[in-house]
Amino acid sequence: MTLSHTDQPWPTTGISFGGDYNPEQWDPSVWREDVALMRQAGVNMVSLGIFSWGLLETAEGVYDWAWFDEIVELLGENGIAIDLATPTAAPPSWLLAEHPEFPPVDHDMTQHWPGARLGWCPSNPDFRTHALRIVRAVAERYGSREHVVMWHVSNELGGGNGHCYCDVSAAAFRTWLEKKYGTVEKLNEAWGTAFWGHYYRSFKHILPPRGNDSKNPSLMLDFDRFSSDELLDHYLAERALLKEITPDLPVTTNFMVGAEPDAVDYARWAPHMDILANDHYTRSPDPVPQQDVAFSGDRMRSLTTDRRPWLLMEHSTSAVNWQPRNRAKNPGELIRDAISHVAHGSDGVMYFQWRASRAGAEQFHSGMVPHAGPDTKIFREVTALGGHLQRLAPVLGSRVPAAKVGILFDNEAGWAIRRGVKPNNFLPYGAAVRAWHAAFWRRGDGVDVLPPWNDYAGYDTLVVPQLFLVADDTAKRAEEFVAMGGTLIVTPFSGIVDENDQVRLGGYPGAFRDVLGVWTEEFYPLQEGETFRLDNGWNGREWTEHVHVAGADVIARYEGGPLDGEPAVTVRAHLGGGRAVYVSAGIDGDAIENLVAGLIEPDRGPVSDKIPGLEVGIRETDSDEFVFLINHGADDAELGIRGAELLTGRTVEDSLVVPAGDVRVVHRRKAA
Ligand code: GLA
Repeated sequence: MTLSHTDQPWPTTGISFGGDYNPEQWDPSVWREDVALMRQAGVNMVSLGIFSWGLLETAEGVYDWAWFDEIVELLGENGIAIDLATPTAAPPSWLLAEHPEFPPVDHDMTQHWPGARLGWCPSNPDFRTHALRIVRAVAERYGSREHVVMWHVSNELGGGNGHCYCDVSAAAFRTWLEKKYGTVEKLNEAWGTAFWGHYYRSFKHILPPRGNDSKNPSLMLDFDRFSSDELLDHYLAERALLKEITPDLPVTTNFMVGAEPDAVDYARWAPHMDILANDHYTRSPDPVPQQDVAFSGDRMRSLTTDRRPWLLMEHSTSAVNWQPRNRAKNPGELIRDAISHVAHGSDGVMYFQWRASRAGAEQFHSGMVPHAGPDTKIFREVTALGGHLQRLAPVLGSRVPAAKVGILFDNEAGWAIRRGVKPNNFLPYGAAVRAWHAAFWRRGDGVDVLPPWNDYAGYDTLVVPQLFLVADDTAKRAEEFVAMGGTLIVTPFSGIVDENDQVRLGGYPGAFRDVLGVWTEEFYPLQEGETFRLDNGWNGREWTEHVHVAGADVIARYEGGPLDGEPAVTVRAHLGGGRAVYVSAGIDGDAIENLVAGLIEPDRGPVSDKIPGLEVGIRETDSDEFVFLINHGADDAELGIRGAELLTGRTVEDSLVVPAGDVRVVHRRKAA
């Protein structure tokens, strides 16, 4: 698949700054204070109307536009652009009362109740009709307003209705399968339905993977693919209508790209977005939340082949409300997180939400204006950030340069690991990918986290962490990458099954066995708390396997235990300088760092000083460079650099101090 991207101008003239704005929760007298504070903070765009359907359409085809007209007007008068939402994420109560069949049904056949959001089955054609009616009404009324600059389709599609197992979905699933396989024989072959004699005589006999008992993994994987496609189809239906009415306005929807396999397959959705948008929230406890920020940006940027800027559509000024214990951000963290996202390729900083809600399910979620009002740490930092972003205007449109290290990430592989029973059911996909990303991030190496079908040319190192499911084409291109002199690192439980989720025979990891010069006879998963030790001092947990070398050299062997003396980490040297490294055991983070240090020269990066805790990022145009210096540490960092520091407006002659917890951005011209 080739990922293309429409050539779309950015919706705001500077870096986008603002957030979800839900004025319907407040008296109109508060709206005047809102816009005054927005101007004070430098807000230039808000996402409006995301959850307003129930207040805009009061009965079928009956609309109350007056209040929305007023707010649209007010924002326009104050020079604030609107990222206008189609309000389909939250259907009105009257609609759900009339259509009790709309809410999604879980795998155990319990139906969701109204009262939350995304409470609709993506395959239901009647729901689609109602949704497109409100989309048309909103688009026809407001789409031509000059300060309506972008469409925000629904909200986090899949966050609540990622899978629906109802009868309507079951019928749609059968249609999807028929289109994919053509004949039921082909499906039987792909799913291996001879097992337990589940052979299907007709598509009519197929059901979604309902219930709690063990199901065919190939069926479950296809159901995950189908579910993503159904939601994409909903997005595309809204998008087509919006393009019919306002052909020139960019259309997006907000992704939830983090380190776990996503509800939907974002890499396959990306070509349908004019501007890619992401919602990212740090979690607690997270040993390195800053790395999670970097990880999401490194993934977002690599969803397009031209690495163009994306938009941080939501994050939080301080605590969220959906964790068991919701940590408030420390002073300075709001600005550091926001500018880290910009360093990783976002051309905007948007929050959920403008004003913290007084009522409703999210009343204890932070906002840009907290419950205590504007005379607060949060609003002061929001205002300071607004000033910073204005000073960063020259960064708009610049790109993060191509990295030398690529890490493969594929939702299908993550889904396939998560569903069904495995030799060890405690191998979270996201954690494995993040552990490898962390090793490079700590060294200051630029990293792209890319879908397996992207081009590998240009990378020196390609990491394949726990890529359980691998297509033949990916395996072939990984071999070509090594043949061209690249370093390939494959980690446990990669290359095990093909695209149908059937095991690749002849020894694990089937897809990479030849290039690695190894074959694994048997897995030896560990029990909780059990550890292993290798003869070079590395330790690890969760996973070991019995590897045979067939052309590879051994880097480390097991010491003690049932695999005593057997190979654990190997490298196969290829002609032309290529290397294929197999890390067959679940080695700890410091062992990963150690291995990486022994194999790969650190990225020299844009500054020569490597200071612990100082993250250095770069964005560039043909003529200019912007060096982002983000001090996550507790001490001031001093480094040698020259250029114009954008946030303080000072010229840096030879050295710059980045205060502890703070950020600086140095603009310099590239040598001609
Ligand atoms: C998501 C949603 C928002 C809000 C935030 C809270 O990202 O899109 O509407 O619920 O979570 O963190």
